[in-house]
Amino acid sequence: MLSTSLAGGKAAALGGPVAVQAGMVNLSYSGDVRPAHHNQTGQGAEDQRPATEATRFIVSLNEMRRVARQLKESGRQVGLVPTMGALHEGHLSLVRRARAECSATVVSIFVNPTQFGPGEDLAQYPRNLDRDLELLKPYKVDAVFAPQAEEMYPPGFETFVDPGGMARILEGAARPGHFRGVATVVLKLFNLVQPSVAYFGQKDFQQFLVIRKLVEDLNLAVELVLCPIIREPDGLAFSSRNAYLGPEDRRAACALYRSLAHAQELFAAGERDASKVREEMRRVLAAEPRVKPEYVALTDAQLRFVSRLDAGCVALVAARVGPARLIDNLILGPPTS
Ligand code: PAJ
Repeated sequence: MLSTSLAGGKAAALGGPVAVQAGMVNLSYSGDVRPAHHNQTGQGAEDQRPATEATRFIVSLNEMRRVARQLKESGRQVGLVPTMGALHEGHLSLVRRARAECSATVVSIFVNPTQFGPGEDLAQYPRNLDRDLELLKPYKVDAVFAPQAEEMYPPGFETFVDPGGMARILEGAARPGHFRGVATVVLKLFNLVQPSVAYFGQKDFQQFLVIRKLVEDLNLAVELVLCPIIREPDGLAFSSRNAYLGPEDRRAACALYRSLAHAQELFAAGERDASKVREEMRRVLAAEPRVKPEYVALTDAQLRFVSRLDAGCVALVAARVGPARLIDNLILGPPTS
């Protein structure tokens, strides 16, 4: 069974969608939400499960399999939140959603080496398991699964998932092999945790589409939920890689969101010519010399490039800002006037 729920839906009950304001823009958009005031503490997470059981911390794959079996046998519906750690409000919003919707929640923390290309930031990627566990504490999840690379990829490991065309454009073109690593690890995590539902963020929109295709093509019995992008007050999407930004780069980085918000503004004002909107987005990015754009794209919801825009089309941007490579996107909404 594959059912995909898009942004909105139950998110509304959890504090989003809300009006987004950043700098000069003021727009209402269901795909973006700010952290609700309760996000820091986890209060407000709706409990389906009485918080009587301690969170299990699991490293070994066998132990994860055993716990997954146990949860299944006790009739629990497992929600999985796959992450690479260095947790932030974006991740925590997925955890909250899983806690609210599933009778058991598993959060995985694994910096997956196979999705990093040579020369990428695998070695520098922020890792702080103690802090992550501390951040997860208030959510009382059933298990945190933090396997080791040596056990996930033992010597002799040689079987990979080869995702199709969707994985070769945009992020796939900029990071060859990236989605092969993502699809492979996500399939492994699904096999180990056996979730009924898995939660992903719109922040990595293309990743979600690749995983949706994986689930569809390989007949996986997991429901996927896409959750809205959580942003800092100035619009910058939360990302573990924001930690690479010094103060000047951090300030400059919100140009990514500004370009997306500008696209939404133009769309809301009736502009439908994708190349015009793209040009305008590039202009906004160019005003910030610290931002080096890699791509600016306008696509439909299946990530096909479009020349004419409709509601539901997606504006996507990738750029280098100092030492960080950042991505962001926004689903164009209906005109507000
Ligand atoms: P990671 O970058 O840690 O992200 C884990 C999940 O959090 C992804 O689904 C991502 O889209 C979501 N997320 C990140 N920032 C977000 C934000 N600002 N708002 C909402 N959701 C956000 O994506 C990965 O890890 C890996 O590729 C993984 C799927 C775990 C496979 O290794």
